[in-house]
Amino acid sequence: MLTRDEALTLVKRHVSEENNLKHMIAVGAVMKELAARLGEDPVKWEVVGILHDIDFERCTGLTDHTLIARELLKGVVDDEVVGAIMAHNWENTGVALDTRMKKALVASDAVSGLIVAAALVMPSKKLAEVKPESLIKKYKSKEFARGASRERMVISAEFGVPLEEFLTAALEGMKKVADELGL
Ligand SMILES: [Fe+2]
Repeated sequence: MLTRDEALTLVKRHVSEENNLKHMIAVGAVMKELAARLGEDPVKWEVVGILHDIDFERCTGLTDHTLIARELLKGVVDDEVVGAIMAHNWENTGVALDTRMKKALVASDAVSGLIVAAALVMPSKKLAEVKPESLIKKYKSKEFARGASRERMVISAEFGVPLEEFLTAALEGMKKVADELGL
């Protein structure tokens, strides 16, 4: 299994836009936090998050997103990791969303955008200023960060983390990598 640093090095070979890289670091941080709460492997879950959009700048769109990732990651990570990455685009890959890791990746991918938006509306534009209660309020406000799919975030209940606890954990996870995110 790859370490966090190895996963980042690999991603940087295929992803050059800083915002894309930050998004993957953020999703990794959320996954790590969830793993710790669920008794799963935090290193592995973080690596899944860091790698999940590795082909984002290479694919032509949603139809081949994660298919290129599968090729890039073959023999580098195990099938569970590749499966989770492919399942986060399940509408196109047809890979079933049937494990905790897969569901966690979908929810983490969605929540990271909400949390970035929540930080950017703070006077300091810093994550440290975002409180769990205000994140929950922003989640409920349909107008706020409309692109961040609430439908995908509520999947958290399906892997054993009720929504408000999920939002709080995700925020905590991202605060731990705030420097890397520049937030
Ligand atoms: Fe993503």
